[in-house]
Amino acid sequence: MITRVRGTEDNLDVRLYNFILSSIKHHLTLYNFNEIDTPILEHTELFVRAVGTETDIVSKEMYIFNTASGESICLRPEGTASVIRAYIENKVEQAPWKVFIHGPMFRHERPQLGRWRQFSQTSLEIVNTQSIAHDAHFLKLLDRLFTDIFKLNHYVLKLNFLGCLDDRKAHKAALVEFLTTHQTQICQTCVARKEKNTLRVFDCKNEDCKALYTSAPKIIDHLCAACIQEWGQLTQLLSMLSVNYAIDHTLVRGLDYYNKTVFEFSSRDLGAQNAFCGGGRYSLGKDFGAKDNLSCVGAAIGMGRLLMLVEKHVQQLSLPQEPALHVVIPFSEQQLPLALMLVDQLLAHQLAADILCEKASISNLMKKANKAGAKYALIIGPDEQAQGTIAVKNMLKGETTVVKQADIISFLRG
Ligand code: HAM
Repeated sequence: MITRVRGTEDNLDVRLYNFILSSIKHHLTLYNFNEIDTPILEHTELFVRAVGTETDIVSKEMYIFNTASGESICLRPEGTASVIRAYIENKVEQAPWKVFIHGPMFRHERPQLGRWRQFSQTSLEIVNTQSIAHDAHFLKLLDRLFTDIFKLNHYVLKLNFLGCLDDRKAHKAALVEFLTTHQTQICQTCVARKEKNTLRVFDCKNEDCKALYTSAPKIIDHLCAACIQEWGQLTQLLSMLSVNYAIDHTLVRGLDYYNKTVFEFSSRDLGAQNAFCGGGRYSLGKDFGAKDNLSCVGAAIGMGRLLMLVEKHVQQLSLPQEPALHVVIPFSEQQLPLALMLVDQLLAHQLAADILCEKASISNLMKKANKAGAKYALIIGPDEQAQGTIAVKNMLKGETTVVKQADIISFLRG
């Protein structure tokens, strides 16, 4: 048997997923976001420059291949870099540019519950905005989506502020000193990260390291006057908008492009892979050809993880009603043409209908109609054919009514 590729999933019923996606799209439209689409294939260099060579994504998780002409191409591991590339390449002049993309992303991670090698994200970005008020408005948008639309509870919005480049330099120096003092207590990965990507030690899963880092220097204590003011403004605006958050000084996010605000929505209902949305303020563009870096704020929703959460209390949501299904059952081959005409007539009148053409006993076919969720079974035997009627069985009540073929549409609509 040929099986699916490790770390990928089959979804054999996408109705709930589609409901989630269309609810997100509707919500984002209200907030004046436009949907755009960018390719799944991108130049590898795009992510090397945007996400950073020392990040896990670029250093070990990308699906990369070389084309016959020697180009290095990859399957996109995230959407943000592509959105900024598209903004610059297409010379978009709108600022701020509020857009979202939805689609599959690819990361060669160790698969586990909630972590796949192919997964879908909805990535929403406000491109080219300096105002910290946008960060607050953006977090309210997400919080409202999860609370009001999907009725999620048991989740927390973790928030941190990474300051500007100079703040991070000052913090890094203090952190390196702290790590050097405690070098014998930290794991080998953290020893390596100390030199290459110091802030990432906070992503370490080792319990001893995690305990030690609760007393490590905090970025918040190294903010310049302007950043202190912005951070204060952000927390004030969030309180004003009734957005609950928990400050997490160790939240640094695994991509290099962030500065200032960073956040993650996580839920204890998800297990180890508990973040279902993450993002923050970032600077990108200069490396892809813009005159200066663009200041932006964005986030990506992990659609698979959000689906897992929504599935847990789907009964609290008002999902769109499926149209009632009517199943036409011919007794034998002789009634098949008439049955086909009938199902076609129902469909032409926008009624959901199907036909059972298999050779099987009537009781077997009735069981199939029941399993399919039919409201009515429309049975045509030799008598009905001769008399121009249909035996219509109400599958819920078990009653059968004989209806003239000419009256069937009004009967079903009635
Ligand atoms: P990220 O934190 O790497 O950020 O991913 C965002 C979300 O995608 C995660 O919180 C998680 O729900 C989901 N996700 C990530 N990797 C996997 C995986 N292997 N399997 C299943 N779900 C996964 C970004 O991608 C940034 N581009 C977000 C952003 C947008 N920042 C600014 N704008």
